[in-house]
Amino acid sequence: MDVVLVGLPGSGKSAVGRRLAHRHDAAFVDLDETIERAAGRTISDIFAGVGEAGFRDLERAAVASLGQADGEPSIRRVIATGGGAVIDPRNRWALYRGRLPVWLDGRPEVLAQRLRRSPTVRPLITGRDPIGTVRTLARDRERFYAAGRRLNSAAEVNTLVERIEELAEARRSGTEATTGAVFLRADTPIGQIVIGEGIAAAEVAAVLDRLATPRAIVVSEPGAWAAVGEALAVGLATGGRTVERILLPQGEDAKRLSVIEEASRQLARLRAERREPLIAVGGGALGDAAGFLAATWLRGVPLIHVPTTLVAQVDSSIGGKTGVDLPEGKNLVGAFHQPLADVIDIAALATLPERHRRAALGEAVKMAALGDERLFEMLESDGDAIATGAGGRGGATTVAADGSGAVAELVERCAWAKVEVVSADEREHDPAGGRMRLNLGHSLGHAYEAAGGFRDLLHGEAVAYGLRAAVRIGRELGVTPADRAARIEGLLSSLRLAVAPLPYSLESVLAALATDKKHAAGRLRWVLPTADGIVIRDNVPSELVERVAAGLLAPVGNAA
Ligand SMILES: NC(=O)c1ccc[n+]([C@@H]2O[C@H](COP(=O)([O-])OP(=O)(O)OC[C@H]3O[C@@H](n4cnc5c(N)ncnc54)[C@H](O)[C@@H]3O)[C@@H](O)[C@H]2O)c1
Repeated sequence: MDVVLVGLPGSGKSAVGRRLAHRHDAAFVDLDETIERAAGRTISDIFAGVGEAGFRDLERAAVASLGQADGEPSIRRVIATGGGAVIDPRNRWALYRGRLPVWLDGRPEVLAQRLRRSPTVRPLITGRDPIGTVRTLARDRERFYAAGRRLNSAAEVNTLVERIEELAEARRSGTEATTGAVFLRADTPIGQIVIGEGIAAAEVAAVLDRLATPRAIVVSEPGAWAAVGEALAVGLATGGRTVERILLPQGEDAKRLSVIEEASRQLARLRAERREPLIAVGGGALGDAAGFLAATWLRGVPLIHVPTTLVAQVDSSIGGKTGVDLPEGKNLVGAFHQPLADVIDIAALATLPERHRRAALGEAVKMAALGDERLFEMLESDGDAIATGAGGRGGATTVAADGSGAVAELVERCAWAKVEVVSADEREHDPAGGRMRLNLGHSLGHAYEAAGGFRDLLHGEAVAYGLRAAVRIGRELGVTPADRAARIEGLLSSLRLAVAPLPYSLESVLAALATDKKHAAGRLRWVLPTADGIVIRDNVPSELVERVAAGLLAPVGNAA
């Protein structure tokens, strides 16, 4: 077994790691030393020479050089990471899977005090306010460290070593709850979010244990139930917990008031109580409907999301928007209801058809266009492999959802970006475009989706068309530079998104847009891409909108 020690500088990773390795006759790897050896320079010299970005490249190579995780039950290798190694999602992918990550946590004041006395120079913690610097690092990195088992680093080295031995023993003997790997864990203003692989049952069970509820009420639909729900229910039933199942119809049909009424009556028959959470297992449609059920049953009960489609993992399970459709329009009845926890398990994606994976990338391109350069680059290099299920550059095709960590990184980048945007403007009140920025590509996207009767295009496919439209409107208004426009449209084309002209009439698209406009007091607010983000405009000429909208439709004679 490999033990991986993570935590802020000064938390004692080297001291604890050396002692632990010594006691087990195991190898000890200090990643910073590995980097210094490979570069033939000290960390400070590396920072001075090639800056933090250059250092992170060397760090990535050092992590990769660790190779496969050791599968033996005894502790055979102890790896102490540099404090920032876990910022990179691919490093966490390589470091946490199949290994035992342990977080040595400490108060910034104590760590800063220790660092002042340490002979080691830490390039990121120089300057006049070490406590402030350590606090900032702690805030920025906690979600990455918290994926590991937490130990208080204030304890004696020997005590910490013994605690790690207990954790290793729990894993060895199989008494530990999870066999998967957590990559990110955070308590946010909009609920707990956990991202990992093979984690769903253990993480949901942990939330139920915290709530002391002996019963698990799973709300799902036939597709997600067969792919994920059934196995999850088996996992939740261990230890004597009762599992109840409520199945809604598959797909958009779940989002009907009559379905909510029937499901509520099932809850009544189960005598579901106020403190009992509903566990929503499914994609975006299921999550919207089950979320609305949780928001309204007994005037609101806790909700746990287990999103099982890529759209739900990167987007819909985050942000608290729940609701159902009416014949007059989509999502017209709903409520904001934040989940207690969102358990994002990328293993759930293994069975997801390519069309659904690809469609979700429409939302991912949108997130990249909002200003995530790294996400742009990864979609350009790995996007098609993610859509086909090949796992991304360097990853062999796998039965699991991911080979190289590309899917995990994609999900984390999109999901966390949404957490940050929504936490800052939960109800979309910020007129300067807080949460509203997430509507990039959605104005005409919704209109195309509606013109197709919400059955023809998948949501992400429609967003991709809407994104092309927003780019073209932005170009003509002079807010989207030519190179940015070419990059966004080029990426959509390489992902084979929004490529074929749509067989709808312009009238049907404009009628749907007019409905959206009615809800916005007559002034549609257009989110348009800029060189590195977005602007919001409410004065886009209708003539321009019509011309751009028509440009994505098939010639009139072919229209349906
Ligand atoms: N609330 C929000 O913020 C928000 C954001 C975006 C989209 N949405 C909504 O999300 C919905 C679209 O999302 P969706 O496509 O995930 O919907 P979905 O729930 O209908 O799932 C799509 C299909 O995938 C199947 N499926 C689910 N998990 C699977 C798995 N692991 N393996 C194989 N098949 C699986 C389902 O049975 C279904 O047929 C729309 O209703 C849209 O309005 C909501």
